[in-house]
Amino acid sequence: MCGIVGYIGEKCACDVLVEGLRRLEYRGYDSAGVALLVDDHINVVKTIGKVSVLENIIHDSKSARIGIGHTRWATHGEPNSVNAHPHTDCSGDIAVIHNGIIENYVALKKKLSCLGHEFKSQTDTEVLAHLIEEFNSRADNLEVAVRLALREVDGTFGLVVMSAKEPEVLVAARRGSPLLIGLGESEKLIASDASALIRHTRNVVYMHDNEIAVVTRNNVSLKNLDDETINREAEYLTFNLEQIEKGGFDHFMQKEISEQPETILNAFRGRLKDDEGIATMGGLRDVEDKVTNAKRFVIIACGTSWHAALVGKYIMEQHARIPVEVDYASEFRYRKPVLMEGDVVWAISQSGETLDTLAALREAKRAGVPVYGIVNVVGSTIARETDAGVYIHAGPEIGVASTKAFTSQLAVLNLINLLVSRKRKTLDAKQGKEIIEEMHRLPEKICQILDQKERIKEIAEEFRDSRNFLYLGRGVNFPVALEGALKMKEISYIHAEGYPAAEMKHGPIALIDEDMPAVFIALGHSTYHKSLSNIQEVLARKGKVIVVANEADGRLKDLSDHIIEIPRTLEILSPILSVIPLQLLSYYMAIERGCNVDQPRNLAKSVTVE
Ligand code: M6R
Repeated sequence: MCGIVGYIGEKCACDVLVEGLRRLEYRGYDSAGVALLVDDHINVVKTIGKVSVLENIIHDSKSARIGIGHTRWATHGEPNSVNAHPHTDCSGDIAVIHNGIIENYVALKKKLSCLGHEFKSQTDTEVLAHLIEEFNSRADNLEVAVRLALREVDGTFGLVVMSAKEPEVLVAARRGSPLLIGLGESEKLIASDASALIRHTRNVVYMHDNEIAVVTRNNVSLKNLDDETINREAEYLTFNLEQIEKGGFDHFMQKEISEQPETILNAFRGRLKDDEGIATMGGLRDVEDKVTNAKRFVIIACGTSWHAALVGKYIMEQHARIPVEVDYASEFRYRKPVLMEGDVVWAISQSGETLDTLAALREAKRAGVPVYGIVNVVGSTIARETDAGVYIHAGPEIGVASTKAFTSQLAVLNLINLLVSRKRKTLDAKQGKEIIEEMHRLPEKICQILDQKERIKEIAEEFRDSRNFLYLGRGVNFPVALEGALKMKEISYIHAEGYPAAEMKHGPIALIDEDMPAVFIALGHSTYHKSLSNIQEVLARKGKVIVVANEADGRLKDLSDHIIEIPRTLEILSPILSVIPLQLLSYYMAIERGCNVDQPRNLAKSVTVE
């Protein structure tokens, strides 16, 4: 959610922080701030709005060589410059940035107020600054004060603290919110996301939960909260700067949609055994027996990743004949799920940091079942905490609306389906080979869909003033309808609902009139004829019909106001294609309506709070 960056070294700290915050802005962005050490005192500058606004109001801080910066996504306290981070103690000598939620902050605030501390903001974070101040007056140094303060705290945190009294040190701590430390030559960075530090170094140490780091320009000392030293090898970041830049596109979302021919190729690369008609994934090699002999799969995820999971259910129940349950991670973790011997739990997450998914996977681990991950961000917490897993290799996804990660998740779910179905002998080698042949054709077919963007733009122009949208699909394309509706809602702010097309008669049909566009995904597969009837039902009530159909489908041409044609493929692979026109439709709709595509209001890329 919030973005965190800290710097200590020889460069201008202000420039490093502002540049880092700009790269983190996609995580949260209602306000931003920095604290910089200038002439022995901490200069805090913060504002509501974007990092560009912040940059314009920072003056006289160029000499600072140490500082911390933050982009905020509000949880406690409305977005304004007082509630923006960093927060300081009473003296102004201690500054804190924080991602997470301090659950007992009301009690702590009361206690600290009684001790004479004066609070300026409505945030939970400010109690940390005062709590550290309280312990700092008795402790040997900032590190000890932070450790003692954190013992009092319930909740989650990724935080960085600086003190004017210790001008050569940053102290970072983590429980539940991601943090990594960049190891540069005579400089160190701390960030919530690798994109904020990759310009300065590729050597990083990932912090784990309940760890505290004391960072100077030449050294990092990592300990747990019980003061025991931890030795951890540095890791090398492999993605490059171009991958996190727009590269000539107007928006990250547009770039990420257009990358899909390549990202699908990357998801399959080295994982298809064409001759044997089976898939292989290095990350699952040691657990292949457990996966193929599982009695049931339980998939936990949120948002778009949950939609991918639902597609996985359709595919795997159809082919591998394995029962699959799909659960919202936030529900799973609190509803005492029944897990049994033979269950395998999968956690799907683009960021690998979604708090609900992380908590749900921990719950599953406590129940003693194996938990495997399907994750994009390499080295992320979910990737590390699962027993095994598969990376989707979609590369950094910056746009808040998930696009390429979704299709890559579908690609990997198809690989798992192929592996399990072949091992369980519910598919033979010939069928496996047919699937693989079709997988190889997908990138070219995606290019054909992307070529139709002008046509989709025209549709967006026509419907730009619509207030509602219905998305309808059946079978494996029902979750695609849900995903199309989510994309429309999150970046265009148009109310949209996704339904299984046949459910329409059970309620939503009451909404249909001449002002209601209905987007159907009606491909030539098992439920095609049923979908035709559902389209007739909308037309009979004067609804506007936009159809995603297979190319050269004469029948649907006559039955729709607009048709977007996509190449034919196997039913199990079809969501990888059918979602792309829906991504483009929401993108152009948002542009038409003047919305901020990459940073939609109220949303953050990675949801690291409950
Ligand atoms: O990083 P994750 O895949 O765990 O994130 C899950 C959801 O927060 C995410 O998919 C969200 O729904 C996106 N904004 C959808 O575009």
